[in-house]
Amino acid sequence: MLQRLVNISVYVLLGITLQATVGLTSDVNDPYFVAGVVEFRPDFIGLTTAQLIANHTAAYKEIFASPEALETDIVVFPEGTLNNDFQPTYVPAAEDAVIPCLLANQSSRYEDFLVELSCAARTNRKYLVINLTEKENCADNAAFDPRPCATNGLNIYNTNVVFDREGRVISRYRKVNIYVEQKNTTYQPEYAIFDTDFGVRFAQFICFDLLFYTPAEELVVKYGIKNVIFTASFISETPFLTAVQLQQSWAWGNNVTVLAAGSSYPLSGATGSGIYAGSSGSLTATMVANVGVRQLLVARVPKNEHTGSRLEAVNTRQFAAASTAPLTGLRMLRDPQLDNFNSQLLNLTASSVIALQQCAEDLCCTLTAETTASQSSYGNGSAAGAYQYRFGVFTGQRSYEKEQYSTVAICGMYACTDDTVASCGLLFPANTTIQPAFAFKRLNIAGSFKKAERLLLMPNTLNLNFYSLQPAQVAWEVTDKCKSYETSIDLKASADNLLTFGIYANYYDSSAATGLAGSMLVMLSCLLLWTGTFAIDFLHIRFTDC
Ligand SMILES: *[C@@H]1O[C@H](CO)[C@@H](O)[C@H](O)[C@H]1NC(C)=O
Ligand SMILES: *[C@@H]1O[C@H](CO)[C@@H](O)[C@H](O)[C@H]1NC(C)=O
Ligand SMILES: *[C@@H]1O[C@H](CO)[C@@H](O)[C@H](O)[C@H]1NC(C)=O
Repeated sequence: MLQRLVNISVYVLLGITLQATVGLTSDVNDPYFVAGVVEFRPDFIGLTTAQLIANHTAAYKEIFASPEALETDIVVFPEGTLNNDFQPTYVPAAEDAVIPCLLANQSSRYEDFLVELSCAARTNRKYLVINLTEKENCADNAAFDPRPCATNGLNIYNTNVVFDREGRVISRYRKVNIYVEQKNTTYQPEYAIFDTDFGVRFAQFICFDLLFYTPAEELVVKYGIKNVIFTASFISETPFLTAVQLQQSWAWGNNVTVLAAGSSYPLSGATGSGIYAGSSGSLTATMVANVGVRQLLVARVPKNEHTGSRLEAVNTRQFAAASTAPLTGLRMLRDPQLDNFNSQLLNLTASSVIALQQCAEDLCCTLTAETTASQSSYGNGSAAGAYQYRFGVFTGQRSYEKEQYSTVAICGMYACTDDTVASCGLLFPANTTIQPAFAFKRLNIAGSFKKAERLLLMPNTLNLNFYSLQPAQVAWEVTDKCKSYETSIDLKASADNLLTFGIYANYYDSSAATGLAGSMLVMLSCLLLWTGTFAIDFLHIRFTDC
């Protein structure tokens, strides 16, 4: 009790003195809050576990306390970029309302890095979201969990931790769906919803979850969640599921706010972070190449009303820099299912007008387009290339990394390096200057998508620089027609740098798994940058579910 009083008075004192040195915070009445997401390159090589954790912790603290972060209310770091299995930490439960920072001198229960980050949240008066490897004494849980404990007496979890502005742990989410990781699961799944003092309720999930109904879509549809925190180490797949493209599509299709933090290791495919305001599009986003970055992206995020005019990112550096150069030096997968699309090559010149229809099973879509001449060139390589386009329609199942399937229905136009189907979804090599043969003056794709209990319709677009078109450039319309949704995506401003333009419908697992035999298993990866060991190199990256 005495300790509690001491703690409270310390907090009050600190609270008062710190108030003057930290940025303004948003409150319940503000129409927006300020969010930061970190694209974070972890270290791998030549350091001990202790050194790596110290390095990561120092870098987290530096970003968190940087001038760019001054106005943020909440900062999100990506998965798997802090500690590892060799140095897991205990994490208090949210109910216990523990502030690890205040226990610094009395207990070694929490690892130093957890204490330091709790102190960082407290000093900087911001919410902080991190991911770490957690340990728990089985004994603490024995009353609830009848399963046999490991011989060392510990449960090891993949855990997300949220600190409030006082450094108190207010949310602890232990991952439910684990795959090849040597991790434990909770006996009962835990919900990861938390409230903030600026009046915004968040739910958090990770990586692959974005492609499945439970829990991601369920949180939106059944729990009314409007703000999602998403941490990832996601490997992009052309032409529909590159990282920022998927994040923006999902946020727009659901009209919810998404704060997405990605780990940055582009040579293996991992990159992609951003802040998305539902149908108002991206407030800030980044896709990087080569060795990756440690970069904070900041935006003022309108609270749940996405109808207002689009608010600008506070720090537009990265987004603005994402101008015209095609992105290269980033490993990507290609959707092999593209070979199974019903498609036709668009026969376009600098002054064409076309209207086409293409069907796959019971889904038919139309494409209408008008082209004009283009004077642009993108990049400054020694070779020259121009993309051709196919209009393709697909309905069917796709798998991801493990035996989980989604039924998807896609109508899209996508870029190909020549007139063959096999070249679709491929990119010209880095030394190519892209010289478009024409620009789209008008472009519309429309189709009627059968209603289903589980369905998410998403606008899906991609530019040469691996960002999506924004609401100023593209219109998205979904009209409820009793048994179906009339869906249309329409180009608003002429464009000559498109890689993808279409409609992506996820019917999740709603239709029974039929006809899988013989259908291609399409693997999409979330990358674990390390799994239990730091002794990892380019050739031995392990791909696992995340
Ligand atoms: C934490 O990150 C790891 C990757 O290192 C990931 O597998 C895990 O799912 C994450 N945990 C949570 C709760 O998001
Ligand atoms: C812990 O001890 C150090 C030095 O011994 C002191 O500077 C610090 O304020 C103490 N922290 C708390 C939370 O009491
Ligand atoms: C936790 O994982 C270990 C190692 O895989 C296993 O031996 C143990 O039974 C698991 N504990 C529980 C409670 O499931």
